[in-house]
Amino acid sequence: DGDVFKYYSDGEWKKSSSGKTVPIINPTTRKTQYKVQACTQEEVNKTMETAKAAQKSWAKTPLWKRAELLHKAAAILKEHKNAIGECLVKEIAKPAKDAVTEVVRSGDLVSYCAEEGVRILGEGKFLVSDSFPGNERTKYCLTSKIPLGVVLAIPPFNYPVNLAVSKTAPALIAGNSIVLKPPTQGAVAALHMVHCFHLAGFPKGLINCVTGKGSEIGDFLTMHPGVDCISFTGGDTGIAISKKAGMIPLQMELGGKDACIILEDADLDLAAANIVKGGFSYSGQRCTAVKVVLVMESVADILVEKVKAKVAKLTVGPPEDDCDITPVVTESSANFIEGLVIDAKEKGATFCQEYKREGNLIWPLLLDNVRPDMRIAWEEPFGPVLPVIRINSVEEGIHHCNASNFGLQGCVFTRDINKAILISDAMETGTVQINSAPARGPDHFPFQGLKDSGIGSQGLTNSINMMTKIKSTVINLP
Ligand code: G3P
Repeated sequence: DGDVFKYYSDGEWKKSSSGKTVPIINPTTRKTQYKVQACTQEEVNKTMETAKAAQKSWAKTPLWKRAELLHKAAAILKEHKNAIGECLVKEIAKPAKDAVTEVVRSGDLVSYCAEEGVRILGEGKFLVSDSFPGNERTKYCLTSKIPLGVVLAIPPFNYPVNLAVSKTAPALIAGNSIVLKPPTQGAVAALHMVHCFHLAGFPKGLINCVTGKGSEIGDFLTMHPGVDCISFTGGDTGIAISKKAGMIPLQMELGGKDACIILEDADLDLAAANIVKGGFSYSGQRCTAVKVVLVMESVADILVEKVKAKVAKLTVGPPEDDCDITPVVTESSANFIEGLVIDAKEKGATFCQEYKREGNLIWPLLLDNVRPDMRIAWEEPFGPVLPVIRINSVEEGIHHCNASNFGLQGCVFTRDINKAILISDAMETGTVQINSAPARGPDHFPFQGLKDSGIGSQGLTNSINMMTKIKSTVINLP
């Protein structure tokens, strides 16, 4: 009933003294696939100590050596792409090809981060005093970027590898150590990723991965005095973390309700293709998924027909068969999605397909004529259900987008670049994509959410900078 995996601390694989494990349920079979250790608070304490000690000497390791190890880890990660991909298929029902792509993308991210790190951390600043009123040229100021210490990385289930390395690699190149708390669904893929870093030969204690129940070690980790920075991607939990965390830098990405605004002059084939890709990739379980379509009434019928035709072509089934739509991650997630669908039905949305569910598998569903009184107009389903709201003016679309508590990304389809830029300026989101669906990548692009969508900015350069502090030395001349 499932292979048991150890956790990783102080450079060693360990069993928890709790004697307990946490089961990982395969979303497709709904049976226990793997088990991970239920770590104790005492084990977290020990891991924090070890991470703190390892960081001190890592910070003194030359930057080029840190980069060399990261390049090595990136290569090993790519060599393990099929084995890690298989974990992603079994743990989070990610379609087989996408699972392998996630690992390859992660390897590229680690290498890019090493390259970016040696450039931006290899430079400091030199300031002179006489540019400020009243000063002579008697003070020289030298600045450089120094690490924060121990970075706590908490990635979500939808990219357990990619969003773990997007926190780990910047932290390491900048001279920090890492305590990784993977999501339960995806923990084995994350442990496997950590194993690749282990094989690369990083010093003991520099990278650690603790697994367990949120109720036992969640708050304990995020409120731990040994943590110097938290990088979190996930849902509402992030808001709770930000209220409880200490006086440390926080990097948070907490979901979105990305709007897709379609103007009358849009290329409707392009828009339909992006709506289907953006709305239904990985069954809609992406923070950057298209989560609401706001289309001008005059082109709505044609657009909806085009989207319907493409939805009909999506394959539905197990991730092993590389189907487009696969079971959503947990039964409770499927139940939540179903609740949104029932609410929309009761309030009179037009169902473009029949609603169908078997276990955690939900068939793709487009809901037309959605109105603002329906929950699906505002809430994130994190599943293959996409609402269409018909609008009579661009302002109405912008208003709907901005009335959301989220502000991650948005997109606009039009052939008029001037209009597109004005709409982008008016949308209160971290990024607006013109003529394409929202997406985080390429991974060096800045990635940030406004309002409840997050704190700070990601993207490799921003993450490296965020995981450092400025240190100055001032030379006072006689
Ligand atoms: O849902 C996580 C978020 O980071 C999405 O990434 O690459 O699917 O746009 P991506």
